[in-house]
Amino acid sequence: MINDTDVEKLFINYKTLEQFKRFKEYGNQELSMIEDLQNNIVENNSESPFYGIYFGDNLIARMSLYKVKAKYDNYFNPPQEYLELWKLEVLPDHRGEGYGKRMVDFAKSFNLPIKTNPRIKSHGFWEKMGFQKAKYEMERDLGENPLIWLPKGVSEKTSDNS
Ligand SMILES: CC(C)(COP(=O)(O)OP(=O)(O)OC[C@H]1O[C@@H](n2cnc3c(N)ncnc32)[C@H](O)[C@@H]1OP(=O)(O)O)[C@@H](O)C(=O)NCCC(=O)NCCS
Repeated sequence: MINDTDVEKLFINYKTLEQFKRFKEYGNQELSMIEDLQNNIVENNSESPFYGIYFGDNLIARMSLYKVKAKYDNYFNPPQEYLELWKLEVLPDHRGEGYGKRMVDFAKSFNLPIKTNPRIKSHGFWEKMGFQKAKYEMERDLGENPLIWLPKGVSEKTSDNS
């Protein structure tokens, strides 16, 4: 069941960073955010690439969204600004309650193409969200298996249209 919770932009502060510790995909990105805060490189409550859903005081879902500039686009036709989505994760107690879908719908609401590099076990979820496998190009994708989502009017870059 969905409660009255919304996707919100997460700001860099000690409260958010404490909540991040509960997520499995916790690593360099989070640690460098803590360091930047401790060393006053970023201010309390500065912008972060993270969005999340709070359930009461607890962050139960989060993801990172980063806008990639059109000049770096190697996935879409015509080449354009797109979103890179990573670290989508819903805490185990709240999986299967629609929060993952809510997060992805939020990302789609920017109406930009989206690229993600999913965990192997989550392919069924991404398929349901309307994502498709990007045609694998070794030099571009190397060890990744990217999935993409195309808004209306956008197609995948192929060797014919690039
Ligand atoms: C994958 C994940 C983000 C999905 O979030 P969730 O909140 O559990 O998913 P939702 O409840 O929004 O599910 C939306 C739909 O996808 C389906 N679904 C969810 N996970 C699925 C899976 N692994 N395989 C197939 N379908 C799946 C649901 O059944 C639901 O379908 P419905 O609309 O027909 O009922 C979550 O399970 C998770 O955090 N997993 C661990 C981390 C992970 O794998 N992240 C992936 C990105 S790296």
